[in-house]
Amino acid sequence: MEVESVVGANANSNALLDDDGKARRTGTVWSASAHIITAVIGAGVLSLAWAMAQLGWILGTTSILIFAGVTLYTSNLLADCYRSPHPVTGKRNHTYMEAVKAHLGGRMHMICGLIQYSNLVGIAIGYTITTSISVVTIVKNNCMKKHNGSEADCHFSNNPSIIGIAIAEIFLSQIPNFHKLSWISFLAAIMSFGYAFIGIGLSLTIIIQGKGKSTSLFMGKTGQSSSENIWNMLVALGNIALANSYAQISIDIQDSLKSTPAENKVMKMANSIGIITMSIIFLLSGGAGYAAFGEDTPGSILNTTGNEHVWLVYMGNVFIIIHILGAYQVLIQPFYHIVELLVSQRWPSSNFINKEYFVGIGKIQFSINLFRLIWRTMFVVVASVLAMAMPFFNNMLALLGAIGFWPLAVYFPIQMIIVKRNIRKGTMPWIGLQSLSLVCMIVSIAAACAAIHGLGQALGKYKPFMYKA
Ligand SMILES: *[C@@H]1O[C@H](CO)[C@@H](O)[C@H](O)[C@H]1NC(C)=O
Repeated sequence: MEVESVVGANANSNALLDDDGKARRTGTVWSASAHIITAVIGAGVLSLAWAMAQLGWILGTTSILIFAGVTLYTSNLLADCYRSPHPVTGKRNHTYMEAVKAHLGGRMHMICGLIQYSNLVGIAIGYTITTSISVVTIVKNNCMKKHNGSEADCHFSNNPSIIGIAIAEIFLSQIPNFHKLSWISFLAAIMSFGYAFIGIGLSLTIIIQGKGKSTSLFMGKTGQSSSENIWNMLVALGNIALANSYAQISIDIQDSLKSTPAENKVMKMANSIGIITMSIIFLLSGGAGYAAFGEDTPGSILNTTGNEHVWLVYMGNVFIIIHILGAYQVLIQPFYHIVELLVSQRWPSSNFINKEYFVGIGKIQFSINLFRLIWRTMFVVVASVLAMAMPFFNNMLALLGAIGFWPLAVYFPIQMIIVKRNIRKGTMPWIGLQSLSLVCMIVSIAAACAAIHGLGQALGKYKPFMYKA
């Protein structure tokens, strides 16, 4: 470290290193925009048609645009928090949590970490549910083909596929630094764009063939009580919030940019490009899906059965399975590492925690550590059991979106910028920023309540672990 900082001080004279002593960064506005777009194009996109169906055309479109606008605004605030005290000449912070610590202090840093990591655990559950629904969709479509399109004999539990996914993830979890394999992110990007566009394509073919269902300008479903409608609309907002979320990795993306032109300027441009592209894809996917499936739009548009373009449904779901099996590790491995680091600092002399055993099968060498083996396995098992207990796609995704959106995408960026720009309490800018934060908090809480209400209702209908799609 010491060597690094000495070198860092002379960085200007060294073409290979940046001002913090790290290897010269090479990212541009295009690579940053690409990172943002791949972060927001995920399975969440497939839920937007359902969200649109709950909200109707006007509220649905407006909500997608408003969430995009708020995300753009707060992401731009966040771009100024990468360096501090000055946004162009200050010192770098490399992650979201470091930036929160530098601006708001140790306690907020802890709270931020707690929210981020509990969100991760939630996403592991959400990923497991999403993948298992894809497996069940494939199995169910196959079964219906055998039964001449009748659904009656084709109901399946998610549990076997969740157990299969858990076994796969237990193995993948043992591969250290799986998340740093560069072909993984490349593959993930292709897969997620693949299924997002398959979803759009499937909807468009249905519309073009004139088989689209009727839709409405204002809220959603007929034939259910208005309180049910309102709950669903709030869950829809939670789904949109989740689809938007990339605040957690925004600083990491900025940390890959080269330093001229100033990172915050480039990042703001990347935010605009990323969010405009994202909104176009969201509106296309949400709008086309709603126009194709009408008020009975399924939770995820690739979660359809009895469709005549069944091969598109198969292909899309295979893409989802491949994407999410990998994305799970990309997301969770940093969390594994942090827990292992903390535990080994706490018990530095324990063999169980620290000893590596080397095992060789032929030419392949493994290093096995008992604590790592057991703790990573336990993590996957617990996430999978929770997924089996509550395999409800939209409610689960909405709960995650609602919990993550306000604190990570709105609250922390706003509080940091208030400190950074020295905005005094009671002034107009302060009132403006805090009101935005307050409104977003209310929306987040309402969406979280609606999601919990929905989970409660679903659990009332199906006993835990007994749900069949
Ligand atoms: C983050 O920024 C602050 C303020 O400039 C600085 O003191 C701190 O060392 C930085 N943290 C890291 C880990 O670089």
